[in-house]
Amino acid sequence: MLSIRGLTKRFPSPQGELLAVDRVDFDAAAGEFFTMLGPSGCGKTTTLRMIAGLESVSDGAIVFDGRDFARVPPQQRNIGMVFQSYALFPHLSVFENVAYGLRTRGMARPEIARRTDEVLRALQLDAFASRLPATLSGGQQQRVSIARALVYRPSMLLLDEPLANLDAKLRVQMREEIRRIQREFGILSLYVTHDQEEAMAISDRVALFNSGRLVQVGKPRDIYRRPATLFAADFIGQANFLPARLAGRDAAGAKLTLPGGTALVVRHAAALGAEEAVRVPPGADALVMARPERIGIGPAGAGLRGRVLRTQQLGGCLRCVVAAEAVPGEITVDSWHARGEPAEGAEVGLTLDAAECLAFLRPEATA
Ligand SMILES: Nc1ncnc2c1ncn2[C@@H]1O[C@H](COP(=O)(O)OP(=O)(O)OP(=O)(O)O)[C@@H](O)[C@H]1O
Ligand SMILES: [Mg+2]
Repeated sequence: MLSIRGLTKRFPSPQGELLAVDRVDFDAAAGEFFTMLGPSGCGKTTTLRMIAGLESVSDGAIVFDGRDFARVPPQQRNIGMVFQSYALFPHLSVFENVAYGLRTRGMARPEIARRTDEVLRALQLDAFASRLPATLSGGQQQRVSIARALVYRPSMLLLDEPLANLDAKLRVQMREEIRRIQREFGILSLYVTHDQEEAMAISDRVALFNSGRLVQVGKPRDIYRRPATLFAADFIGQANFLPARLAGRDAAGAKLTLPGGTALVVRHAAALGAEEAVRVPPGADALVMARPERIGIGPAGAGLRGRVLRTQQLGGCLRCVVAAEAVPGEITVDSWHARGEPAEGAEVGLTLDAAECLAFLRPEATA
């Protein structure tokens, strides 16, 4: 339904030009909740603004519902936008804030009332209709700004960090709320955030950006399990990176030796980019990525030997930070076993679930 091809934005800058968005390609389907995720300055807002028509396109194409946006002026794109700042009119009631756009379009009064009431009900704002924005909580104000975007019945909703002004607890509540509203309206939504947990929690698919480039697009679970690059592995969720030597490769995967001599066959191996390879310590051919829940922790004897430095109870799981004898740095392990959990200071053995580990190989080791 939405197709983005080679989308590029260059801004003039004192150093010549700044490539804010660099040949981005993706498709999003009708009704999808599609999130653009990435660190500050990676080009998320610029991409969204080009889709909305608020920013010119340097190169590439945006096609929505068969219409080439290069030939569709912004006001005819039928897009609803929600921003971090709610930008509500302070002197107008909630009802009037939502109805405002319909009035300026010259819609008949009864129709305005009907549509506005309908959206206010769907967003559970009907009880606040006559209140002024200043008398509402941040979350309620953001709901009003979403109502205002939806009242036009747009065919696509763009949301740029809509929760950034809310406190942590309300952010979690509101993200569920936005997801519920989006499902109820069945509207294709492009959501921008730099919060990976938020992106993973509510998206059908996530597009991970870094420095203007699209790194990976996929379902949250797939990106988590099979990050395409070291950046993706690091940015999404918790990850341990263990240096390893490549002992050989065959159909079963890459045979790796961890420090201390533990052998591991990793089925999924990806090549590191030249810049990423810098992170591999001297003497190693690869970094093995293991998520904290994919490392078993037990009495010393099996696997990597180490000592528990700290533990932290995270809900039902015990997070253990371990110093392994042969591995530099700390290894984070999440244990879900209520019994026999290690205490701080305990000597332990760490075993890796090879089927869920990924290897990132130095470019020369992949040949
Ligand atoms: N109007 C502009 N003129 C010049 N450079 C710009 C302009 N708008 C954005 N940029 C630059 O383009 C790059 C991408 O900016 P953008 O706002 O898209 O990032 P972002 O991913 O939304 O970041 P954040 O998470 O901080 O909002 C940044 O380096 C930014 O400084
Ligand atoms: Mg932004």
